[in-house]
Amino acid sequence: MTRASRPAAARTAVALAALVAVLLSGCAVEREPLALEPTPTATRTPTPTPTPTPTPTPTFDTARYSIDDPASIWVVVNKLRPLNPTTYAPGDLVRANIPATQDMLMRAETAAAAEAMFAAAQAEAGLTLRLESAYRSIESQTRIYNGFVSSRGQAGADLTSARPGHSEHQTGFAIDIGASPASCSLDQCFADTPHGQWLAENAHRFGFMLRYPNGLTPTTGFEFEPWHYRYVGLELAAELRATGIQTLEEFFGLPPAPGYAG
Ligand code: DAL
Ligand code: ZN
Repeated sequence: MTRASRPAAARTAVALAALVAVLLSGCAVEREPLALEPTPTATRTPTPTPTPTPTPTPTFDTARYSIDDPASIWVVVNKLRPLNPTTYAPGDLVRANIPATQDMLMRAETAAAAEAMFAAAQAEAGLTLRLESAYRSIESQTRIYNGFVSSRGQAGADLTSARPGHSEHQTGFAIDIGASPASCSLDQCFADTPHGQWLAENAHRFGFMLRYPNGLTPTTGFEFEPWHYRYVGLELAAELRATGIQTLEEFFGLPPAPGYAG
């Protein structure tokens, strides 16, 4: 290396160092805007305000009727709330004047409401409804439940049939409704029939509610039963409709009842 070449090399080294510095500073300059960009949190779609849990309207008296007395139109019977006593039988069972698959009974108030509802379905929509099941004694419920256990096993039976002493049918307030002529009787496809759809839209006008709605098995303990209607009276049926609350458990602030206690 000559004396003359040393300064040249030094100049080259300086130039290289300068270039590196420029490059580095350029990178730094490019990085800065990145640092100023909004954080991922800021760019996320704002979290939607949670939908408030529906509750009864403030003026609605939720204590007007008992939810414990099996004779009360608001009684709540489920897997955690057996009838008390479990052998309860209503005192005013009657035959409703409606088409039915066999001779059946129900509470007088249920019968009057069912007659009005069946008549309205015929008059307003030309639909003939048919009663498939109504009051069931604890002995009758035992036979039905045991039949399901035989055909589906206990776990399967427990999704579709209440154990004796735990069925709304024993109160005389529950009725299973089908179409005439028969279509999807006691089957979930009943929900898609004109009869099932008419009931879903209109039953509240007569004091009935769909007791086992689609998708609420974790609350009610039972699979979707688009045929099972429970008489709760005009006042509560209207309130449920107005608030959008779909189960008695939610309405009365009761724990979900997906399974039996024992
Ligand atoms: N199918 C209804 C849940 C009952 O057995 O009462
Ligand atoms: Zn039923």
